[in-house]
Amino acid sequence: MRLSLAPLRGLTVATYRTCYAEYFGNSYDYTVAPFIPLTTAGRIQPKLLKDIFPEVCGTMHTVPQVIGKEPDRLIEMANAMKEYGYNELNLNCGCPWKFVAKKGRGSGLPENPELFEAMLAAGVQVMPGGFSIKIRLGRKSIDTLESLIPIINKYPLQEIIIHPRTGEQMYEGDVFLNKFAEIVDSFAMPVVYNGDIKTVSDALYLLKRFPKLAGLMLGRGAFEDPFLPGDIAAALVAGEEYSEPIGDTLPHKQTLPHTKERKQQVIDFANALYQRYSDELFGPAPILGRMKEFWEYTATYFGNGADILRKVQRSKTLDEYEHAVKLFN
Ligand SMILES: Cc1cc2nc3c(=O)[nH]c(=O)nc-3n(C[C@H](O)[C@H](O)[C@H](O)COP(=O)(O)O)c2cc1C
Repeated sequence: MRLSLAPLRGLTVATYRTCYAEYFGNSYDYTVAPFIPLTTAGRIQPKLLKDIFPEVCGTMHTVPQVIGKEPDRLIEMANAMKEYGYNELNLNCGCPWKFVAKKGRGSGLPENPELFEAMLAAGVQVMPGGFSIKIRLGRKSIDTLESLIPIINKYPLQEIIIHPRTGEQMYEGDVFLNKFAEIVDSFAMPVVYNGDIKTVSDALYLLKRFPKLAGLMLGRGAFEDPFLPGDIAAALVAGEEYSEPIGDTLPHKQTLPHTKERKQQVIDFANALYQRYSDELFGPAPILGRMKEFWEYTATYFGNGADILRKVQRSKTLDEYEHAVKLFN
């Protein structure tokens, strides 16, 4: 069972990934970096790949991700990535944003089975053994992925990461665990589950309900509780198992207290992250943008989080921001 950190554009950038590993250790087996678009024809500008330069990736095993629908550009991009030492590549088949999906990219790609298949063929050809996809149940229907299984199984993917929502749901509403249950064992390659894992109980529930899962991928839950990956890894090492009856939905049962020491560690981490963004970004706007997005999820770790978050979000200067974050406790 492999534990991974999901790609979250604007959040899991290289600075976050390296700083996180320094402050919380590295319980992840790997992370998929936020997507890089396949927009450039011809020579690929190195700056497009700056988030995956090996020297900025620290100790976290990083798998690059691309988004697009052009098989020749996928090959071109993969070859550029190989020059930086990568032999793995993930294709984003799940991005729900309308302006992406309507153009046949992200969650729009699986709606065009021929093009989807051409992308899989290009991927396994250029990254043999290391090509994977991240996908939803469909864009509009929860049955699209199921209908594509015969195509997907023709290609020796390294793994398939499934977020069991539709694109139209964006990131809200229930995950369709019953639909996931119907299809999970039909794939010829390892299956990784992603979506709404918020507590250790959720991870243990999923592993009990779907014993053949090859991995769990954490996204927003790892921001809401930065200790979550370490706690899950520790529970697995200790041989813990889900002991309640298996229901239809994720239990979200919080068992580990947010102690004063843990909260302080989160604050120290946030301050270090802020410092690094201040060193590498120009002007207050991008620094505040990054930190506001971070606190949008991480504020929930604190009892008074909702009130302070409002202050953080309203801050227009670095001084206002620094004053607001001192109030988290
Ligand atoms: C702000 C944000 C940015 C995201 N960026 C990406 C991305 O670049 N590539 C991708 O495959 N998924 C992206 N996702 C989807 C997440 O990887 C993940 O599938 C989704 O958040 C569900 O998992 P979670 O409930 O554990 O967060 C993004 C999600 C959010 C909320």
